[in-house]
Amino acid sequence: MQKSSFEFLLVIALIKYCDGTVFNVVNQNAANYPFNMTLYEDVLNSELCQRQLTYITTNNTLLLLRFYDAGVRIPRSILLGNTVDLGNYQQCININQALEGSDIQGKYCMIKVPTNQSLQISSFLLSKWLKTTPSHLQNDTFSRLGAYDKLENYVKTMFGLHEFKTRIGSLNPNLNLNLAVCIPAPCTTREALSVFYFNITSILQFENDFCRLPGDKPWVPADYVAIIIFSIIGLLVLLSTSYELLHSLILKKGSKEIRTIYRSFSVYTNTRRLLFHKSGLDSLECIDGIRALAMTWVIAGHAILIVFNSINLREAIKWAQSIKAIWITAAPITVDTFFMLSGLLVVYTTAGKLNNMQLLQNLPLFYLHRVLRMFPILAAMILYEVSFQNRVFDGPLWNIQAMSIFACRKYWWSALLHIQNFYNPTNMCIPSTWYLSVDVQLHLLSPIFLFWILSGKKNIVWIVLTIGLLTSLVTATIYNFLQDFQSGIFIQNPLELRRYYVYYYVNTLTRASPFFVGMAYGYILHLWKGKPLEISKFLTLAVWSCMLLILAGVMYCVRINLDVNWDNQLADNILNSFMRPAWAFGLGWLIFACVKGYGGPINWFLCFNMWRLPARLSYAMYIIHFPIIMTVYGSTNVRTLFSVQNLILQIAAFLLITVMIAFVVTVTIDAPFATLIKLLLSKEKISCQKTPVSEISKHVQQSDMKDQNEMNQEENDISKKL
Ligand SMILES: *[C@@H]1O[C@H](CO)[C@@H](O)[C@H](O)[C@H]1NC(C)=O
Ligand SMILES: *[C@@H]1O[C@H](CO)[C@@H](O)[C@H](O)[C@H]1NC(C)=O
Ligand SMILES: *[C@@H]1O[C@H](CO)[C@@H](O)[C@H](O)[C@H]1NC(C)=O
Ligand SMILES: *[C@@H]1O[C@H](CO)[C@@H](O)[C@H](O)[C@H]1NC(C)=O
Ligand SMILES: *[C@@H]1O[C@H](CO)[C@@H](O)[C@H](O)[C@H]1NC(C)=O
Repeated sequence: MQKSSFEFLLVIALIKYCDGTVFNVVNQNAANYPFNMTLYEDVLNSELCQRQLTYITTNNTLLLLRFYDAGVRIPRSILLGNTVDLGNYQQCININQALEGSDIQGKYCMIKVPTNQSLQISSFLLSKWLKTTPSHLQNDTFSRLGAYDKLENYVKTMFGLHEFKTRIGSLNPNLNLNLAVCIPAPCTTREALSVFYFNITSILQFENDFCRLPGDKPWVPADYVAIIIFSIIGLLVLLSTSYELLHSLILKKGSKEIRTIYRSFSVYTNTRRLLFHKSGLDSLECIDGIRALAMTWVIAGHAILIVFNSINLREAIKWAQSIKAIWITAAPITVDTFFMLSGLLVVYTTAGKLNNMQLLQNLPLFYLHRVLRMFPILAAMILYEVSFQNRVFDGPLWNIQAMSIFACRKYWWSALLHIQNFYNPTNMCIPSTWYLSVDVQLHLLSPIFLFWILSGKKNIVWIVLTIGLLTSLVTATIYNFLQDFQSGIFIQNPLELRRYYVYYYVNTLTRASPFFVGMAYGYILHLWKGKPLEISKFLTLAVWSCMLLILAGVMYCVRINLDVNWDNQLADNILNSFMRPAWAFGLGWLIFACVKGYGGPINWFLCFNMWRLPARLSYAMYIIHFPIIMTVYGSTNVRTLFSVQNLILQIAAFLLITVMIAFVVTVTIDAPFATLIKLLLSKEKISCQKTPVSEISKHVQQSDMKDQNEMNQEENDISKKL
């Protein structure tokens, strides 16, 4: 494979990823598609079109200018990797002028112009315009660019003059220029462009991508359902808050006299609980820090989507390939942090509190709790996604947003059942929820191992944990070696990207090992709970250095195939099989050392109080951040210059917005339902297992509430202070 082509292929892979062309194959004529596709066909009217065009071109120069102004341009910075011109969406849609009973309405369309076409235009004509002939132009440009920055192959590839042999097969990039055109609503792009400019069909080949008109987002049943449900929740919050304020502030009643169920939706109680809640896992304080930082990293990693809206994509990719960008390109490994924590907590929170028979008796409850605690926010977000999300914003790239809305309208149930990673991996509702699917599936399996762990016999536990870890490692390794995936999400070939994503990236088998590593650490932590541990200074230092090296090494390897010269299938297979458990292994030590007092400055940093809130919000943040980023991406009106400073600014903005929305959602939706679920489950006949069940639930989510008694105590204290 030629070197300079690499980044270009990367650009294409990423563009296709963002276009959704790699992943989404959607039937746009379905009844509940976010756009009214019949509308676009119904407005077409050749006769009316000609009338309007004649009027515009002969009688109304200002109107003609408005169409020109919002419409087609050659993209800027083509040589820097920009192939898109977005025109001016709002300006075009807002054109609306009355003319003899019909309105002249602006229609925004995107056309795709293949760059590998041989121009039919006469060389003579072109030479008049450009003072040169196309072949001269080509030869000149290429030779100059070739001398300058070795751009030659890049440009040739860009215009489809090159075929590339990659490890997976040959690939002709066949890039399109995506150009926005603004035309009157009744016209097709061909009709309008040949009047506005010149007889375009005789010169250029192009295809229509999509068109947009005002009022093309139909109301669907989901909209009404969402309005009703969110109104009910809003009303409950209002009533419940008033109820509590009335009783506690005006009637001055003690918190014991206020019924828990009536104030479950109270913003007052829920906010206070969220802010003053002390971690239930008292001895594992550093986990809050890890969680908050990992969530920040996830958001930073996903914010890279915004980079594809840069006009200097090529520079952005160059930066991403360099080691300087490791803080963002290594982000995909973060998810394994969460898998590790998940495994660790499931063991740590149950060991010593349940025995294996109690676990068996409580198994339905164990599962129910797991799924119910995740349900409210996920369901609320899906409901939002299928309804309001379509109306919250608009913009030239909203059709990408439409695909993800449509995915939710189609697969909301599979998202709620947590089977998306197997059932519809290329068309996921809220794509980041693949993690939840894998996590829930691992939790479904975990009782098989928990049963033996809770038996309390050390030897058996170690044998079972070893068997679990080895089974997942060995099967995943065999699978990886049979499949020969590339390592890392930064794949050059769009076709390979799809295979990697579906069969490796969201596959429970290949992602399971960090969970098992976490389980082992959970058991180690349990064994040493409350017992002092003596490690010599030298040994501590040695293990720390070793573990930090592992973590740094994994971070380096996650993004290794961004390297131009990277071509090593064996190493790829090994990385795919072992870098994730290695990450979990290093991180597990970090937690263990921090808990046992060998963390030093790292422990000091991870135990800051400021991590508590984001840690508690992390589940909500995880679900919410991706739609927010997609919304911003889909409503971008212009492409801007990529710079690292700008990227950092964007990440900070996403982070802040995500925290704020996550806070509101947690207080108004998650916390009330947590209280209700708790009341519901504690009503059932589980008197003897009451404590264990609440222990089970603790690991499910950081925002879990304290026991009722403790909470009342806390509230009494606070109301005394008020
Ligand atoms: C789509 O637009 C057409 C008008 O062209 C209208 O008759 C139809 O009711 C619209 N469909 C929806 C679902 O609103
Ligand atoms: C356009 O201008 C011509 C003369 O320039 C006039 O005859 C015609 O009525 C005008 N059409 C409209 C729709 O104003
Ligand atoms: C451009 O590339 C596409 C796909 O590789 C091919 O089908 C088409 O024939 C090419 N067009 C020209 C004019 O070479
Ligand atoms: C352009 O380059 C090709 C070979 O690279 C050559 O055959 C052709 O004559 C050149 N054209 C001009 C106008 O120099
Ligand atoms: C444009 O060109 C095509 C093919 O060359 C021809 O069939 C068509 O009549 C032309 N249209 C106009 C308006 O000149």
